[in-house]
This record gives sequence, C-alpha cells and structure tokens, in this order.
Amino acid sequence: MNKRDYQKEEMEIAIYFDQEEKLFHIQSKDMSYIFDIMDNGQPGHLYWGKKLNAFRKRKRPADDFRGILTALGQEYPAYGTLDYRYPAYQVQRDNGTTITELRYDSHQIIKGKEKLKGLPATYVEDDDEAETLKVRLLDPLAGLEVILSYTVYSDYPVITRSALFKNTGDRYLYILRALSTCVDFPDSDYYFLQLSGAWARERNLIKRPLLPGVVSIDSKRGNSSHEQNPFMALLKGNADEYQGEVYGFSLVYSGNFLAQAEVNRYNQTRVTMGINPFDFRWKLEKGEEFQTPEVVMVYSDSGLNKMSQVFHNIYRKRLARGKYRDLERPVLINNWEATYFDFNTEKILKLAREASELGIELFVLDDGWFGRRNDDTSSLGDWYVNKEKLPEGLKYIADEINKMGMKFGLWFEPEMISPDSRLYEKHPDWCIHVPGRKRSLLRNQLVLDLSRQEVCEYIIEQVSSILESANISYVKWDMNRQMSEIGSAALPADRQRETAHRYILGLYRILEEITSRFPDILFESCAGGGGRFDPGMLYYMPQTWTSDNTDAIERLKIQYGTSLVYPLISMGAHVSAVPNHQVGRITPLKTRADVAFFGNFGYELDLTSLSQEEKEEVKKQIQFYKSVRRLVLEGNFYRLLDPFTGNNTAWMLVSEDREEALAAYYQLLAEPNPGRYSIKLKGLDPDKKYRIVETDEVYGGDELMYAGLEIEINPFRNHDFRSFIWKLESV
Ligand code: DGJ
Repeated sequence: MNKRDYQKEEMEIAIYFDQEEKLFHIQSKDMSYIFDIMDNGQPGHLYWGKKLNAFRKRKRPADDFRGILTALGQEYPAYGTLDYRYPAYQVQRDNGTTITELRYDSHQIIKGKEKLKGLPATYVEDDDEAETLKVRLLDPLAGLEVILSYTVYSDYPVITRSALFKNTGDRYLYILRALSTCVDFPDSDYYFLQLSGAWARERNLIKRPLLPGVVSIDSKRGNSSHEQNPFMALLKGNADEYQGEVYGFSLVYSGNFLAQAEVNRYNQTRVTMGINPFDFRWKLEKGEEFQTPEVVMVYSDSGLNKMSQVFHNIYRKRLARGKYRDLERPVLINNWEATYFDFNTEKILKLAREASELGIELFVLDDGWFGRRNDDTSSLGDWYVNKEKLPEGLKYIADEINKMGMKFGLWFEPEMISPDSRLYEKHPDWCIHVPGRKRSLLRNQLVLDLSRQEVCEYIIEQVSSILESANISYVKWDMNRQMSEIGSAALPADRQRETAHRYILGLYRILEEITSRFPDILFESCAGGGGRFDPGMLYYMPQTWTSDNTDAIERLKIQYGTSLVYPLISMGAHVSAVPNHQVGRITPLKTRADVAFFGNFGYELDLTSLSQEEKEEVKKQIQFYKSVRRLVLEGNFYRLLDPFTGNNTAWMLVSEDREEALAAYYQLLAEPNPGRYSIKLKGLDPDKKYRIVETDEVYGGDELMYAGLEIEINPFRNHDFRSFIWKLESV
C-alpha cells in the first residue's frame, strides 16, 4: 500500500496525517475532507467530496505567498492579506490593529468528541463512534491561539467544525469575527439553497444560482428567526432531490448567525458560517477563551434527499437528548386555537374530557394561566397561577386530567417581561435595552436580559417551582418576540456588543439546568411558531412547534421545507379548525390529518364543537397515528413531489428494515377532467412485496418504485385540497 493510500479496510472513519506532505485526510462514511499545512504555515484547503482512497498533493505556485492566497483554498483565512475574500475571523489587538497571522503549531487526533463548553453540539455515546482532529494555530505577536476542531462519525457522513479562541498574550484582544467554518470550493457552478420566510410561512425553499460577489443570509434579530434558518446548501450544477452533489451546512446555534457564499474573480466559492459578525465584538482578556458554535456539514453525492436523511439521523440520534429522544411522542391537544385567552377550569376540563374520550394522551394548557393574563398585554414574568381564571390551581387541573388517563402539559414564555407586570415594577432594568433610548414593544412585551446571571437564576427558580407544584409532564417553551435596541444594563461599555451572544449562552445555561432538573418532562420549543427552529434548541428540546400556521395547505410547504434539515419527529403538527385561523381556508378534516401525520401529531381546536361524525373520524385518525408513529420517529423520509413547484405534493416514510412505509399524496387545486396519475415511491426493497393496508392490494417494491402507484381521482367527486394516504406492509 502506498503511504498515501489511506483507507483502512476495517474502518469507516479515520483521520490521517501525512508527516512528509503535512497533509490531513479526514475520511468518514462516503466522504473525504482534505487540507494541508501550506509553506507559509497556514492550513490550506484541498478537497471536500466523495471519499478518496488517496490524495496526491498538487504543487502550489511558489512565489510570494501573500500574493497568491487570493486563489488558494484556506481552512481559516485571516483578514488583511492579499486575499480579499471575506475572512473566517478578525481580531483586533489593543493597539487598534486588526492584522493577525495564525500559523500551524501542532495537532492532536483523539477518539470520540469533547463537549463544547456552554454550547449545544452533536455528541458521542461511545468514543469509538467518532474521531476528532484539533489543529492548533498560533500568532505569537498578537498572543492569539486558535484551535480548529474537526469531528467525523463512523455512522454518519458528516464532518463537524468549530473554533476555540484563546488569548495567550498579556493584553486584551477584541474578537470582531469568529466564524465556525470556512470551506473554499475550487469552482462556482452551484445553486445556493436557503430556508426563508416570515411568521406563519417559515422555511420556504429558495434556490438561486451563484454569481460573482456575495450571497448571504443572516439573523440580526437575537434568535435564529422565522426569516432565515441557520442552514444553507450548495447544489452542484443540476443536482436535485435524488442526484448530484450537495453540500449542506447547519449551524448549531439559536441566535444571530451568518451563512455566506462568495464567488471571487477566479470563480472560486468560499462558504463561511457562524455567529453574525454584525454588531458583535467580544473582549478576550488575558487567559480567556471564546468557543464558536458548531457547524454540521453534510456531503451528499446523490442529491438533497440523502443530505436530509443524514441530517435527520444525526440530529435525532446524536443531537437531541433525553428520555424522549427514542420514545414515541404522545398525541396532544393544545387549547390555544380552541380558547385563546378565554378559558376557566370548567372549560379546560370539558375540552380535556372530550380529548381523552377520543384517545388523546396529553393535554397542553397554553398561554393565559398565570399572573393577570387575560390577553397579551400583561403578566409575562409573573409566573404564579391566575387565580381569577383557575381558582382551583394547576395541581387540581393536572390531577383531574391525570384521572382522565391523560398527561398534563403547560406553556411558558420565560424569556420575556411585560411592562405591565410585577416583575417589571421591581426590575425595570432586567430587559434588553439601552438607557435613554426607546424600548420598542412587540406584542406588548420586552425581552429579558439573559446575559445577566440573576435574571437566569430568576427564570430557573420560577419555572422550577411551577413544575414542582403539579404533575406536569410536558412544557411548551415559547418566545414571542425578537430583540431590538440591544444592550445590557449590567455589561460595561466595552462589552455591550457581547449582549446578544451572552443572551444565548444564558438561555443555554437555563435550558441545561431545567432539562436536567426535570428529566421526565417532554420539552417542546416554540418562538411564535417556528422562529427558533434550529439545531441549538433541538439539543435541549426534542420537538419544536413548527409554525403558528396550522392550515394544511400552507403546512405542506412549511413541513416540506423544514424536512430539508430537521427530522419529522421534531416537527409539531396539529389538526386545527376550519375556516383556518391564519388563512381562512377550508380544507377537509382528512387532509388536515394526512398532513399532520407526518410530524409530531396533535389537535388544536375546540373538540367539543365537532359533530358526532367528525368525532368518529378524529378517533380513527388518532388510532391510525398511533399505529404509524414509530415510523414517524425512526423512518427514513423521502420527498416525492415538491409543493413549491407544482399543484401536488407527495412524500413518504420507510422503516429502516424496509418492512413498512407510509406514503401520502396531496392535491392543491382540483384539475378538471384529470388524466391518470401515478407517483413513483422511493426507498422500498425492490425484491419485497408490499400490501397496501387500505385496499389489501399487493405490489412488488420494484413495481411501486419504478412503475409507480396509481392515484385514482374520480372526476365526478373531485375537489380542492384532497389527500390520499397509504400504509404499506411487506408480505
Ligand atoms: C405563539 C405560539 O406559537 C402559539 O402556539 C401560542 O402558544 C401563542 N404564542 C400563545 O401566546
């Protein structure tokens, strides 16, 4: 074997260092990532893509190194060289200068993966699952050390990256930019794919070709946001769902982020991702460290669907944590769209009784149970029971609901403060604000300053005492506004621009504490629907309320887009009333459920107002979901027809052993006089036979995948917003 023929037969992963060539070859399942230490001591990027057995290093031009950096791939480029692309980092010294030169010092290859201090990240359960490379870079003049970390997993074709900054000098440093990753691609023939939107239309899929210059998405809103998700992908040439090369980047972070692709004059592409440098500056005193969040990078050689399956797998098994990670989730009823703020004990128990009779397993009491909260103008921060509405208290309600055979769950919005609250009266400076400036209200509320230790402690104690006061099995953790006038009354002048990141660190500390104090509680995160649907939150809470938009047709797009990165089990999906409260659309009860089945299923409507016939239908839907929810938890997801480009949507789930599957087809508007139509299924075993449970017909897996499953649309009973669902079992 040639010394550069790296692949060890028995292992899927390995990180090799070729001493002579000073070259690192990081191999994981199906993928290689290669860089070396260039003659100037900087790590230079060489390759990321399909797995290579060996890599013969090409010669780089040997003239003035600073000059040619502009065309060279780099791993963690600096600002201030003749490379005029955006750098991965920028540090300002106490003399005001911003030029640094990080050079390779040493490296370490270790088994497993260390935790990121204070930040969520993918993890290992056993050190044999992964290998980590740590490359130490030094700039002695600035007193700066940066450790670049790369982890590869044996079971997932991903590579994770992060950077740790240390001040090893005698003087302070300011970090102006500290991104988590930089990847230089040798070409620019890519589409930039992003998940964008707004409240009630989150994570719509948008694709545009790269052109010379910069394309970026970001958040400056304090949370990851409805507007942009901390995810981007590059699609090579005509790559699509099932073919072509795709490079996916997902940031494990819930705050301000930047994801950027820059095409230079040589048509090379630089991708950078991390904490948004905009309005960010972090003071690093002598001896202090700064850890960037982690980026999870996925390479797929067969389109977007494979990329998504990889993200789903690693996020479900090695990012989400806790007891519920591997458990089927309870079917829930949430009272929000059923009652909004207008409820009392009797109304809640009546709704719960109806729910339990229909087979629902968890009752969630949403906003309005605390303080003096009868609308959204008051009481955030006052976490004690609203005795006017619920004189018997939460324990009574929880116990009554438990007696009905259901679990009880509760809504909180702990990160907020209403100006009309006892808390604000006592601590008017506990919110994010700048003295002397306006405090802009959004939904009549302000954001608590989680960069302050005492605010975090307050939240932990308040939430804990409520959770201890009754038998609470589930928490919905909401966050209904983004930040403005960002500043902290507790931070000194030279640290004001740390506020937004310190907030996120405070939030993570709170979540770590509460989720470990209450390991038996199922947590669901929410931010005005899907305003913080990101991997950072998924680390603490295994499910997220996908969107406040519960319309089945809008949900097709939202759930389809969300599935690009996030596993189905992480997406809260509820059947709600018609006309729909967000868009006024009337869709059949069947369609509403057929869409919600492909997520974490529940109801959010006044069940007591349904007709007997509808109640019977709901009962059957719940039974059906219970029979397929293991598939929703563990199955592989295949997108078949895209709601962003056509009148129809289709998708399916297939169990790992390919014994079972669940497929669905949705028609938006009815077509007059439709022709024959069929969809080609995916992921089945071509050699197996499958029975369609609803019709008892048996087909070969090959037949269903290559010839397709015919959809019978009766032209005389056709209508808008129709859905078809099939459960398949191998025979
Ligand atoms: C926004 C959430 O997304 C809704 O589901 C609901 O909990 C409201 N907040 C309550 O204020």
